Amino acid sequence: MNNTEATRENWNKMARAYEDFNTGDDSYSACIEWPTIKKMLPELSGKRVLDVGCGTGIFTFLLEQYNPKRLVGIDLSEEMLKIAEEKKEARNSIASFIAGDAAKTAKYIDEKFDFIFSSTTTHYITDLNEMFTALSAMLEKNGEMIFSIIHPVYSAQYPKAHGERFPEDEEWVVDYLNHSERAYIQPWIEYNDEIEDFLSKSIHYSMSDYMKAIRQAGLYVDMMEEPAPPTEWEHSTPGRYYSFVETPTYMILKLKKM
Ligand SMILES: C[S@@+](CC[C@H](N)C(=O)[O-])C[C@H]1O[C@@H](n2cnc3c(N)ncnc32)[C@H](O)[C@@H]1O
Repeated sequence: MNNTEATRENWNKMARAYEDFNTGDDSYSACIEWPTIKKMLPELSGKRVLDVGCGTGIFTFLLEQYNPKRLVGIDLSEEMLKIAEEKKEARNSIASFIAGDAAKTAKYIDEKFDFIFSSTTTHYITDLNEMFTALSAMLEKNGEMIFSIIHPVYSAQYPKAHGERFPEDEEWVVDYLNHSERAYIQPWIEYNDEIEDFLSKSIHYSMSDYMKAIRQAGLYVDMMEEPAPPTEWEHSTPGRYYSFVETPTYMILKLKKM
């Protein structure tokens, strides 16, 4: 099984747990990521929008609120997409969902987009250059992208993979320039009663890995944000607040085509 195939299987198994954990009003996405993304969005009304690694469609449907004329989500995991399809039915959405690899989009999608979005997917992509180049080719001239990325400082602390062994708490330490595979228990598994101790694997990329892949794809960084946790958390859940201040979770990049 190659890495992309393993990632697909991994996400198929985690799909329901991910959806349950990430759709609450106090989810990290809702409280930290989305408020910043919202301020960075270009005009989407009447535009063609692609959501890369759309998962269960959490952001796809948020983007639909801005009235795009076309809305496509692509994801590796059929189980994540099954949930997205259920939500589409319930909402009467215009979104179309496609199962496929974000690094090989031309195999599945033959059209151009005005805006390409992606949230927390890049650390599963085995070849960043290939993915940014493929997506850049699908973007109209003067088109824009927003990539919300697990912050390289955050992914640098993910424990290194040691086969199928589960990491100890002490293995969560920053090891920034070490590019070896990472393996850990995701928060949606930790707080889930039905799945016990499920190991999830991903890749840690550094800032320069991202910058090189972006430049090579003919894109440039127009804006970058590192969102802070909500200030209310300082009083309501200080432990959580200070841990997010200490280690930023998201790095949000707005990219333009040169
Ligand atoms: C952390 S989830 C994010 C889902 C969604 N963007 C969100 O924020 O709720 C990561 C998603 O990336 C997808 N993924 C991983 N590798 C992929 C690839 N090569 N091509 C397409 N999707 C991929 C997974 O299946 C999973 O749904």
